[in-house]
Amino acid sequence: MTILVTGANGQLGNEMRIVTRSSKDHYIFTDVVDASVESIAMLQKLAGNDINTDTIHLDITNLDDIRKVVKAEGVNAIVNCAAYTNVDGAESNQELAELLNSQAPKNLAIAMKEVGGTLVHISTDYVFGKEPYNTPCKEDQKGTPTGVYGLTKLLGEQNIIQSGCNYIIIRTAWLYSEFGKNFVKTMLNLTATKPELKVVFDQVGTPTYAYDLAEAIVAILQKKENTGIYHFSNEGVCSWFDFTKMIAEYSGQTACSIHPCHSDEFPSPVKRPAFSVLDKTKIKQTFGIAVPYWTDSLKKCIINLNHI
Ligand SMILES: NC(=O)c1ccc[n+]([C@@H]2O[C@H](COP(=O)([O-])OP(=O)(O)OC[C@H]3O[C@@H](n4cnc5c(N)ncnc54)[C@H](OP(=O)(O)O)[C@@H]3O)[C@@H](O)[C@H]2O)c1
Repeated sequence: MTILVTGANGQLGNEMRIVTRSSKDHYIFTDVVDASVESIAMLQKLAGNDINTDTIHLDITNLDDIRKVVKAEGVNAIVNCAAYTNVDGAESNQELAELLNSQAPKNLAIAMKEVGGTLVHISTDYVFGKEPYNTPCKEDQKGTPTGVYGLTKLLGEQNIIQSGCNYIIIRTAWLYSEFGKNFVKTMLNLTATKPELKVVFDQVGTPTYAYDLAEAIVAILQKKENTGIYHFSNEGVCSWFDFTKMIAEYSGQTACSIHPCHSDEFPSPVKRPAFSVLDKTKIKQTFGIAVPYWTDSLKKCIINLNHI
């Protein structure tokens, strides 16, 4: 198989580079710009000097450019890790969020339909949230996003389904990795530098180590005929407060006093879901995937961060 990865220099894209480093399949890594010097150094420390750090430039908002790469490289599958991921920023950049999260996935779907290929697309738990759930969200549950990011991601899913291509949509949540900016890295910094910290306890979900998601994607690609929507996060449930407590504990930064607070103490342009735990029964049953518990994966990521 020849598999094209978009957004290869983001959190998930970089983990795809690591997970596929000795794959028999041919992976092509694409993004809008080259990988940063810092990311390349991190990749080499984590996975060895022979890791593929090359980036072919591909803007997924341009259908003709996608078609050209798909044809030239004989691409059978695309893993779309590119997106507009700034949840607050989407409220004031609706056009860009719509272009990247709704229109661009449609471009990728069209390109895959034309060659009989498969699109593996990553979506989000933020397609849910307006309704007050208290049980894990299933794949067929109605999307009720609270903001522009979630809405544009939901429209992206619908565009892919309507295209008629073979697709696998994976909704994930609270993604973090050694790469890029994320909650774990922010909290490592804050717990190391502040004597006290307030973190919300009234938003509940499950963190996802991007490495684990990348491993799941690779397993799914071997059974890619199972078109549909799936949910993937790590196992377990926590609030952002609990998440922060474990980040501090695993990094040994116990001097910072961490307190639970309500979301209204941190006003933001968009209301986050109060409960967006994803039910992973379907992905586990269909693909036989074993999902690591969230604290085990968090520990691994922090160990890696300490080494790079
Ligand atoms: N982060 C989360 O907490 C979270 C939670 C749930 C679901 N997700 C979903 O998981 C997926 C991966 O997220 P992530 O956190 O790995 O994303 P990320 O780190 O923001 O990476 C996205 C990558 O896409 C690139 N990109 C931007 N515009 C592009 C374009 N026009 N064409 C091609 N590439 C473009 C970005 O480049 P620049 O950086 O140069 O713009 C970046 O390298 C996304 O679909 C996201 O919606 C994320």
